[in-house]
Amino acid sequence: MKKLTSKEVRNFYLNFFESHNHTIIPSASIVPENDPTVLFTTAGMHPLVPYLLGEKHPAGNRLCDVQKCIRTSDIEDVGDASHLTFFEMLGNWSLGDYFKEEAIKMSYEFLTSPNYLNIPKEKLYFTCFAGDETAPRDEESYNIWHSLGVAEDHLFYLPKEHNFWILGSGIGPCGPDSEMFYDTGKPKCSEKCDPSCDCGKYLEIWNDVFMEYYRDEDGKLTKLKQQNVDTGMGLERIITVLNGYESVYDTDIFQNLKEKLEQLSNKKYEDNKKSFRIIMDHVRTSTFILGDDHGITPSNIGAGYVLRRLIRRAIRHLRKLDLMEDSLMKLANVVIEDYQDIYHELGKNKDFIITELEKEGVKFGKTIKDGEKLFYKVIKHLDNDTISGEDAFKLFDTFGFPLEMTEELAKENNLNVDTKGFAEKFKEHQEKSRTIDAGSFKGGLADNSYESTKYHTLAHIMLAALQQMYGPDIVQKGCNITSERIRFDFNLNHKMTDDEKKTLTNIVNEKIQEGIPVTMEEMPYEEAKEKGAHGTFEDKYGSIVKVYSIGNFSKEICGGPHVKNTNELGKFRIIKEESSSAGVRRMKAILENN
Ligand code: ALA
Repeated sequence: MKKLTSKEVRNFYLNFFESHNHTIIPSASIVPENDPTVLFTTAGMHPLVPYLLGEKHPAGNRLCDVQKCIRTSDIEDVGDASHLTFFEMLGNWSLGDYFKEEAIKMSYEFLTSPNYLNIPKEKLYFTCFAGDETAPRDEESYNIWHSLGVAEDHLFYLPKEHNFWILGSGIGPCGPDSEMFYDTGKPKCSEKCDPSCDCGKYLEIWNDVFMEYYRDEDGKLTKLKQQNVDTGMGLERIITVLNGYESVYDTDIFQNLKEKLEQLSNKKYEDNKKSFRIIMDHVRTSTFILGDDHGITPSNIGAGYVLRRLIRRAIRHLRKLDLMEDSLMKLANVVIEDYQDIYHELGKNKDFIITELEKEGVKFGKTIKDGEKLFYKVIKHLDNDTISGEDAFKLFDTFGFPLEMTEELAKENNLNVDTKGFAEKFKEHQEKSRTIDAGSFKGGLADNSYESTKYHTLAHIMLAALQQMYGPDIVQKGCNITSERIRFDFNLNHKMTDDEKKTLTNIVNEKIQEGIPVTMEEMPYEEAKEKGAHGTFEDKYGSIVKVYSIGNFSKEICGGPHVKNTNELGKFRIIKEESSSAGVRRMKAILENN
């Protein structure tokens, strides 16, 4: 039998609903515009929430589209036959227009009509909401399916956990739903096997949600002022199911990617399913995130963190296939080619997508290289066959080297990793970094008085000024502060001349007079280093660090505290500059009130 393709199903869907007086609207961004509670658009209805609540949609009250969606809660399951982090959702909506009867009739027609999906009726099963104390049993939907010719033994009432739909946040428009299932023909797993069973006999292919309620923070349902319909059909899934494929990765959607990866690696998908699947999924999702006009880049927070995780995990699996980071870009190009006719933004943002993948690839490549170096150093000194939790944690904390990679390398070298010990260290460190946040660690500060605080900010200005004069290799070798003076040690191979001292004094005083705000940001240690922050007491800090910036002049990892603006400091004066030890100079300086 001829296999269904993604292009056909998209066209079928949009044409069908257009012929039923729906307006086709473009996919909204993959990042929700008005919902700070989530990082990504998770369902077709997500961008339509204001309209489901009663606002007028400019395209009318019967809409349909194909929406780009991302769900990452099951990211660890990617690699099996069905999980994806990115998918396209086909959907149609009534915004206060038709309700159950018309919605169900259209669904049934689309599923069974020879002009559309042409599914044999006996293969279809349907579920309706069984009702509870908050909302009644949905007999209306049940009766509509029945009136269309669906036999009673193909109809089921199921409780709330199956047949009541709301966004993941649990707040917003919601309602009972009616779900459509395809019978794969497998035998029942037990007498009780029905569409609520996840043995794989019945697969859900579409969901009609009858949104007539609003659920508030306390879980209370109130009736909306209009009755809406929200439906969702996962494109990848419907093609997989109807074609009888074993896995979503067998659909036409992944063919070009799969071929490219086979060609690059000279390995077969069939022999390396897990890594192939993870790479294909993660590259596709990363390409869509980067291509989304929002300019999201890999980082250590929010959507950027998800992106970083996806890219790095893809790289790890590329390496398993003996491929390097540059394959990422080649694969992303395939995704762009495959989709740019539908999602023009991918073509438009092609350079950005490729550049960002390359940058992240280089960064992670360095992380891996540094981590591997330390790894081999560590195992040289082992006196048994286990890498301690402390060493595994050090690799993770200092180099961002994932535990998984330590485990992989350990396996290659016939060693074990004390993962329990790692977890303990991790916890210990989190506690320590909380203590640092609470201000108990002062990194050389003798006290927390306002006068001492000024000197601490001065230390940052001094270091940046010295680096401006002698280059970026100048580091702080020590620092001792009282409320009256600073003693600051730094590396330099000669005694400072009077002119040099004058230059330093001028730079520091200029920065004080400029009145530059001192700002603080918290971020993971690795990101701080990437951003070029200096830090002298590296070992003492937790994995989340504070980075203090003085405009563009200085950026340092530091526990603080600091003044709010450099103009609070007064006038800088050097008292003494002398040798402290070989190659290290010691400077005593004071701040005078103007
Ligand atoms: N919003 C419904 C879902 O995502 C249709 O299943």
